[in-house]
Amino acid sequence: MSSQEYATFIDMPVTRAQVEHCSYSFWSSLYSKYVPKSIIIKSLPKEFIQYLEQDGIKLPQEENSRSIYTEEIIRNEDNDYSDWEDDEDTATEFVQEVEPLLDFPNLHEQLNDAMNELGAVAPKLNWSAPRDATWILPNNTMRCNEVNELYLLLNASNYIMHDLQRAFEGCVDGDEEKGLKFDLILRQWCDMNPALEFRVFVKDSHIVGATQRDLNYYDYLDELSDTFKDLMDELVHEVVLPKFPDKSFVLDIYVPRPFNKIFIVDVNPFSRKTDPLLFSWNEIATAVPSKDGGNSDEDYELRLVTSHNTCRFASKEHSENHVPQDLVEASLNPEAIRELTQKWKELLSQQTQEESSDSEDGT
Ligand SMILES: Nc1ncnc2c1ncn2[C@@H]1O[C@H](COP(=O)(O)OP(=O)(O)O)[C@@H](O)[C@H]1O
Ligand SMILES: [Mg+2]
Repeated sequence: MSSQEYATFIDMPVTRAQVEHCSYSFWSSLYSKYVPKSIIIKSLPKEFIQYLEQDGIKLPQEENSRSIYTEEIIRNEDNDYSDWEDDEDTATEFVQEVEPLLDFPNLHEQLNDAMNELGAVAPKLNWSAPRDATWILPNNTMRCNEVNELYLLLNASNYIMHDLQRAFEGCVDGDEEKGLKFDLILRQWCDMNPALEFRVFVKDSHIVGATQRDLNYYDYLDELSDTFKDLMDELVHEVVLPKFPDKSFVLDIYVPRPFNKIFIVDVNPFSRKTDPLLFSWNEIATAVPSKDGGNSDEDYELRLVTSHNTCRFASKEHSENHVPQDLVEASLNPEAIRELTQKWKELLSQQTQEESSDSEDGT
């Protein structure tokens, strides 16, 4: 068997500096014309970090607050849990909890001011957005209309914890976070069409592939493919590469209609930690950049979800964080729904049988 028949695992070393270049405050300062209006709150106080790391979510109880999250609940028969509270066995909590109004009042004020200025925001920390926690907000998106929603979303997210604890994981020159300063980025909310978000892989100053970011099938993308590639090419060669300190990185972009302007959503390390989406890292790592050496790359593939592979990819992202996977799959696939219903019926009839045999045996 020749060695070519084996897929080799290609090492892609990434340095701390490369990860730092992908922090929002670093890269967005290079391309300010290409990002939505945002406010960066630098060097978050340690109490806020502690607040994000603590279990549970403590929302501020502000005087005159009319937030649905903190409104005093008027007790009635249906919601009166006082019997439970009196329960002798209730464990007493001795852990000192961080509270926004007591422990970081200045930051709380700053956040309120920023949100008054920007309106609704899409938040993120240095590298990650809380995409996994949207289930906690009533609109099921990252859109935060008030500061309490911001606290809820950030607290419920494992992706945010990643930034706080494992941002440099896998770096060849060390992974400790000691002394690292954290930033909170509030991006002015824009209603983005997920179909028009793309991820572009740049290796040694050449685009070696690009993919849809949202893995659903959109029938109108295919015929626009060349338009998107031209825009990506121009952005990478004329805007990004001339200023970015690294030659390999992964760029997330947004191309809204009428396709004459492009936005940079994020810059990510050229490493296995960045999701290759419709590609595999092996494909990206072994791709041969175009040889013309000029300021354009025409040979790369913009990979789209086709109607043929829809079922394979169209499962909801981060679904492990809310409803059972069975249900998510079933919601996308009629066959799975039938199967699930059948299983459910079997369980019910089994249960009914057990109950009736129990009552026959009993007494
Ligand atoms: N200003 C914005 N308004 C609304 N949604 C946004 C905004 N910026 C980004 N998003 C959405 O958030 C998603 C994640 O943002 P991103 O910065 O790429 O975070 P991450 O690196 O954690 O994936 C994007 O794919 C986009 O859909
Ligand atoms: Mg990213």
